[in-house]
Order: sequence, then C-alpha cells, then structure tokens
Amino acid sequence: MIGYKKVTGEFTLKDKTAIVVGGAGGIGEATARMYAGKGAKVAIVDCKDNCLEVAESIKKDFAVETIGVKCDVTSQESVDQMMAKVLETFGEVNILAAMPGFVDLYRATDIEIANVEKHIAINAVGVFRVCQAVANQMIKQGKGGKIVCITSQADFIAINKHVGYTMSKAALVGMIKVCALEWAEYGINVNGVAPTVVNTYMGEKAWQGKVKTDMIEKIPAHRFAETDEIAAAVLFLSCDEANMITGEDLVVDGGFTIY
Ligand SMILES: NC(=O)c1ccc[n+]([C@@H]2O[C@H](COP(=O)([O-])OP(=O)(O)OC[C@H]3O[C@@H](n4cnc5c(N)ncnc54)[C@H](O)[C@@H]3O)[C@@H](O)[C@H]2O)c1
Repeated sequence: MIGYKKVTGEFTLKDKTAIVVGGAGGIGEATARMYAGKGAKVAIVDCKDNCLEVAESIKKDFAVETIGVKCDVTSQESVDQMMAKVLETFGEVNILAAMPGFVDLYRATDIEIANVEKHIAINAVGVFRVCQAVANQMIKQGKGGKIVCITSQADFIAINKHVGYTMSKAALVGMIKVCALEWAEYGINVNGVAPTVVNTYMGEKAWQGKVKTDMIEKIPAHRFAETDEIAAAVLFLSCDEANMITGEDLVVDGGFTIY
C-alpha cells in the first residue's frame, strides 16, 4: 500500500537518500542539485569519470552528504557494486532517479540491429536493472520509496530517425507501468517524466541546424527545455506530495504533444 501522509507543499527530501543514475551532467546533475537543495543525501552514479567531481561540487554548494560512483548500467556486476557502495555509505536508499541515456539517429531502413540493441541495453534494460536492484532494497527496508525514470516525448509522437531510441523509451514506459503495479503494495511509486528536447549534450547531438529550427517551430512554447525544468518535475514525483501518482509518464514538452 502507498499510505496517506499529510503534505504541505514544501517538497522536502530531508532525511532521504537519493541515487541519480546519469547524474554526472545534463538533466541528472540538475536533478541531483535540486534533491540536495531539498536536503537529500545524493549518490551521483554515471559511466563517466567525473562522478566524484560532481558529487564534491554538490556537497560544497548544498552542505549535504554526497558520493560519486562510476557505474555502467549495462553490467549487472557494476550495478551490484554501485548498490553496495551506496549502502555502505548511506545505509539505505529512498529515491531513485534513473536517467542514463543513449541516442544515435538513423532512418529505420539503415540502422544496424546492433545499434538498436545498444539503445535498448542502456535506455530500457539498463534502467530496469537499476530499478530492480533499488526496489529490492526498498522492499527490504520496508519504508516504500520513489522511482522516477526519464522517458521521452518520443513515447507519444513519431520522430524521424528515432527508431532505436523510441523502441527503447517505449519499452521503458511499459516497464514503469508494470513495476508501478507490482511495487505499489510495498509503498513504492514508479513514474516517468517525458521531456521534449532539452538543452544538454544529448539534445545538441540530436538536434542541429534546420532540424532544430523546424522542431522549435513545432513546439508551442517555441523553445527547447532547460535541465532545471525537467528536474523540477522529477523532484515533484520524488516527494510525498506525489504519493497518489504512480505508473504515470508526465510530459514536460512546452505543448509539443498537444497535436
Ligand atoms: N536532452 C534531450 O533532448 C532529452 C529529451 C528527452 C529525454 N531525454 C532523456 O533524458 C535523460 C538524460 O539525458 P540528458 O539530456 O541529460 O543527456 P546527457 O547525455 O547529459 O546525460 C545522459 C547521461 O547518461 C550517462 N550514461 C550513458 N550510458 C550510460 C551507462 N551505460 N551507464 C551509466 N550511465 C550512462 C551519460 O554518461 C550521461 O551522463 C536520458 O535518459 C535521455 O534519453 C533527453
């Protein structure tokens, strides 16, 4: 059961421990900073080498405990080691923001199957691997928890050359629904946040030149999103204020999917 707890609209994460996977930059780092600003202890997890630097910078800026753990979500051993490190440091985990991401754009006639499999290995199976590990720990702790995954506007609208990416993100939406259904009895909420294009490394890789200006034209807000705008939605779904929301995929797209 996901119990009722009176909330105040403070969106506090005091006394909570959060893992942010994909946390060494982009939306992940913005989310980790927002969590820290609300009082959470934060583990920065990413396959990049700068996890420790990002963790140290957040610790300095927000005076909360942080750690950085290098981890590749495509490896079970790596995820198991990351979990062991987080638990050794903080003793428990209450929130998971899972957003490792890979994109490589080809038309459906041209994309190599290995490339499709790489999208699915990172964006779907890799995210599930972390969700499963964290959920099992949350169940053991017996206090519930919050899991938020970053999906995409590609869940809702077909986008040219996005076949591998869309297959992986659509799988993620299915995963979110099943896990939300199965884990509600343990007090665990599982949700997605589906952004439009966000100004990050990934956003810039996928959207350049005319494709970019055409896309901006199609978004009613007439711009791409910034990382803090996505992090704010993730924060909301990570707080007790969102206790009654589970299995949802919250679109943050400046109106792109209105049509
Ligand atoms: N930027 C956009 O336009 C956009 C739009 C919709 C959804 N998203 C999603 O948002 C999430 C965050 O992306 P971002 O825009 O911040 O881009 P980003 O490239 O800055 O962040 C993605 C992070 O995932 C990490 N990562 C990749 N493979 C990994 C692996 N195997 N193990 C662990 N970490 C790994 C990368 O090192 C990187 O730090 C992704 O899931 C992405 O698909 C992004």
